[in-house]
Amino acid sequence: MIRSVVTGIGSHLPEKILTNRELEAMVDTSDEWIVQRSGICERRIAAEGETTSDLAVTASKKALADAGLGSADIDFIVLATSTPDQTFPASACTVQERLGMHHGYAFDLQAVCSGFLFALATADAHLKAGFGKRALVIGSETFSRILDWSDRTTCVLFGDGAGALVLEAREETGDGARGVLTSHLRSDGRHRDKLYVDGGPSSTRTVGYLRMEGREVFKHAVATITDVIEDAFAATGESAETIDWFVPHQANKRIIDASAKRLGIAPQKVVTTVEKHGNTSAASIPLALDVAVRDGRIKKGDLVLLEAMGGGFTWGSALLRW
Ligand code: UT7
Repeated sequence: MIRSVVTGIGSHLPEKILTNRELEAMVDTSDEWIVQRSGICERRIAAEGETTSDLAVTASKKALADAGLGSADIDFIVLATSTPDQTFPASACTVQERLGMHHGYAFDLQAVCSGFLFALATADAHLKAGFGKRALVIGSETFSRILDWSDRTTCVLFGDGAGALVLEAREETGDGARGVLTSHLRSDGRHRDKLYVDGGPSSTRTVGYLRMEGREVFKHAVATITDVIEDAFAATGESAETIDWFVPHQANKRIIDASAKRLGIAPQKVVTTVEKHGNTSAASIPLALDVAVRDGRIKKGDLVLLEAMGGGFTWGSALLRW
């Protein structure tokens, strides 16, 4: 059976660290409130002129190096982002050009914080359909650009960063077959006004700022994600006991802990990076994966469960054997 196997991973964070203490000087907040309510201690902020594609290019080069490949070996690029450099062309095309790749195709995909899972499932489907042999799947965001820095209910929560995977179509057989085993995607537009950006080319002709009903999003994040995870377990026969790692979208430590508890996933199997990265939207899962691969937790053959929920609402899961 053809499976989409991860053969390389890389990530990149902007240099500038913004701490909770620094935020105390910007809005009416406290380190204590931010840590207690979200688990976030610091986040990275892109430098002036540093764009989503800049972060994506660096992460992609690391992923390619990790796979021992060059851009000539890649057939297509899927970039998940809600903060593209421009309305168009797709930032993926900028990445393609800057990687020196003049063949194949590249496109952006937008599903906010679930974006990486939508990109992974899309790339997996393209590989299985024979559109190409190898894909670069990227999550890259500069949410700092769409934050209202006078709104304490949102500006303390988000950060910038990028992560990338090389996904390769391979013939895999047997119980230990590696690759993406299953993906489950959902959305429900009835909740679109609970987490949104109050601008856009065809409505206001502006970029706009992120707006969120935090408590409502929190409730849904804990309540709704379980269906896609149950679907992933039902499709594969795996369970909370058999998975090695749970790598969820990094929005809030309390959401992650509550979700793991609800699903019966042991705390030591949960990868969290939200304390250092904040919520980097579509970049959070590949960033967290890269951290856990680099520090030796996630190893070849491990069963890894991914999950995310975000604006739309959108949500999804993927189960893969690393
Ligand atoms: O990636 C997917 C999208 N995002 C998320 O998943 C985020 C989901 N939501 C959350 O993570 C949480 O709801 C928050 C961290 C945003 C907020 O935590 P909460 O426990 O739900 O707090 P709350 O919104 O109920 O606010 C509690 C209080 C309010 O004051 P009153 O009304 O009780 O007097 C807020 O005004 O905390 C106040 N508050 C703050 N205080 C200090 C809100 N933001 C801040 C702040 N500093 N930054």
